[in-house]
Amino acid sequence: METEIFESPEALAFAAAERMTSLIMTKPNACLCLAAGESPRLSYAALVQKLKAEAVDCSGLRFVSLDEWLGIHPSNSGSCFYFLNEALFKPLHIAPESVHFFNSMSTDPDLECERIDYFIRCAGGLDLILVGIGMNGHIGFNEPGTDPALKSHVVELDSLTTSVGQKYFSSHTLLSQGITLGISQCMEAGTAILLASGEAKAPIIRRTMNDSVSSQLPASHLRLHKNAFLMIDKAAAQLL
Ligand code: F6R
Repeated sequence: METEIFESPEALAFAAAERMTSLIMTKPNACLCLAAGESPRLSYAALVQKLKAEAVDCSGLRFVSLDEWLGIHPSNSGSCFYFLNEALFKPLHIAPESVHFFNSMSTDPDLECERIDYFIRCAGGLDLILVGIGMNGHIGFNEPGTDPALKSHVVELDSLTTSVGQKYFSSHTLLSQGITLGISQCMEAGTAILLASGEAKAPIIRRTMNDSVSSQLPASHLRLHKNAFLMIDKAAAQLL
């Protein structure tokens, strides 16, 4: 895993947008799996700006869900879908048919997992996965202890995830389960980016890079990925 440290969150966002743009320009029908959350917010704004400025055709792109809160409707502003729809799909005029997300309201979430796994297989795999990192080292909703061989699966969320997750919601929201791609699918993606910014992420970034690769520290698996980049700002890198 290659580590890239940037002076500021803005410089990080610019570089992440550049990396995503060059991938998109090389493969206009790329299959992209992008995290929601605070970490990539600036990067997505920079990406939209760059793709528009360079008049890049995004009509062939496909987007796959990384994760979602189970039981939270996509119209809820705290959902991962809502975030990505506002940050990317609407500004880039991505057609709904190009967006393949977990249905968080499904009465059969295991079937949802099979549906998304099948889509990824038929698409020939993910070209890019961009993940943030949870305070407990999760990527997607792969919590500490997750079997790294799993593909999409339903998760009992860690108490840290459900409490930190309140930041995405306008009022207190009951969060207990998630649905997520598995670590094996992150590992099979052509390119993986782990993005973090801010000093709050510094301790978990240090552990991710220095501790042994272990299922107790899901993000650490990315160190074994064949084409992975840790893109962080100085604040998140301060304990490395
Ligand atoms: C969200 C996701 C989560 C977040 C992580 C960090 O789709 O997959 O794993 O990336 O919890 O969240 P932020 O970026 O809000 O600190």
